[in-house]
Amino acid sequence: MKTENNNQRGFWGSRLGFILAASGSAIGLGNVWKFPYIVGENGGGAFVLIYLVCIFIIGTPIMLAEFTLGRKTNLNPVGAFASLKPKSSFIGIGYMGVLAGFLILSFYGVVGGWTIAYVVKSVTGSVLSFTSPKEAGAFFGNFISNTGETLFYHALFMGVCIAIVLRGIHGGIEKACNILMPTLVLFLFLLMIRSLTLDGAMEGVAFYLYPDFSKINGNTVLIALGQAFFSLSLGMGCMITYGSYLSDKENLTSSTFYVVIFDTMIALLVGMVIFPAVFAMGLEPAEGPSLVFSVLPTVFTSMPMGHVVAVIFFTLLAIAAITSGISLLEVVVAYFIDQLGWQRKKAVLIVGLAIFIFGVPSGLSFGAMADIKLAGMTFFDHVDNIASNYLLPLGGMLTAVFVGWVWGTKNAHEEIEKHKNIFKFPWAQCWEFLIRYITPVAVGIVFLAKILP
Ligand code: PHE
Repeated sequence: MKTENNNQRGFWGSRLGFILAASGSAIGLGNVWKFPYIVGENGGGAFVLIYLVCIFIIGTPIMLAEFTLGRKTNLNPVGAFASLKPKSSFIGIGYMGVLAGFLILSFYGVVGGWTIAYVVKSVTGSVLSFTSPKEAGAFFGNFISNTGETLFYHALFMGVCIAIVLRGIHGGIEKACNILMPTLVLFLFLLMIRSLTLDGAMEGVAFYLYPDFSKINGNTVLIALGQAFFSLSLGMGCMITYGSYLSDKENLTSSTFYVVIFDTMIALLVGMVIFPAVFAMGLEPAEGPSLVFSVLPTVFTSMPMGHVVAVIFFTLLAIAAITSGISLLEVVVAYFIDQLGWQRKKAVLIVGLAIFIFGVPSGLSFGAMADIKLAGMTFFDHVDNIASNYLLPLGGMLTAVFVGWVWGTKNAHEEIEKHKNIFKFPWAQCWEFLIRYITPVAVGIVFLAKILP
């Protein structure tokens, strides 16, 4: 079955290609747009510290588990669970993952479209004519309520993802990430230098790095844990799918380490870009989700070389969103290729179009459909809530249970240690303990906290 499918499935061309692609999936709107605003809302340094703990004791073990499942089976999430425990209800984790991929991309594509729009609007200079964040915020609100314009950019974002995924693993996704990921890091460093050299920047650095634990409560911890999950692309089989294109020779533990470090570094770096700038401009760090789109243009406007900086920043945000978007699309596409035997082309075109169409009401949730609410939430809010707050934590917890208790850490060890890749003491023991006891319990707590009133 493995070899039969290989022509349609494809493989990563190199280890670096895989690491960059998996990092590309992890690094996205979650890091560049969401991370700074939730750090801003949750008190800065102390929140960052808790986030880091979540990344290392919960995210990292699950990522290794997902890579291992993917490489062992060379299959999509549904196929992976089905081949290890045929006819068991654990296959449901795979279906949940494919569904989560479909749902997340449907609204992620909308926000991805906004980022492309802001690239265009910063090139033309239209987002750079405001002297107050209020005006910039009104401009943003006006833009996202414009049906024709947002639909156009939403379609454009999905079109770019479809075009890349059509070209397959090695030719499309890997090549794109090889160029895009290093460019992203370079841009971030440039922006960080710009930010840190602004007058008053150090106040922002202090807010960001100095932990004030009086601002931490139970809810903050939950937010940090949820963010760790979303940011590392875990809990929906995305890393199972990416691991499935990996050859037996590669070292799974060091790949996991690199992806986690890369994702975390970028988030931390983005904070170092945003907070010094926010404080130097005398703005509020707790600005909320509109931080990037309504506050930063004001920051850019009042900066020397602001026009160039704005174009670079929004290009970077769009790049990060695209490399995550393609990983979401690939999960659903891999399911149709592996399980239903579809050709890649047919799978990508049909799935991509279906996700776009399903995403349209999400795109309209800020304009034409803003008043259509169920339980006080728009269509966009509901899709985001179901996928991010329910499907991801549940999927992650069940994956940990599956690898820790059902398929078993012994089998996982064997897969990890293929080709003389030794899983060294004490890391192996540490991972085993985390994946069996700590990870499921911790994620279970987040999940319960979300569903209990
Ligand atoms: N990790 C991506 C981000 O930070 C989002 C994502 C979630 C991608 C789940 C794939 C799977 O933007």
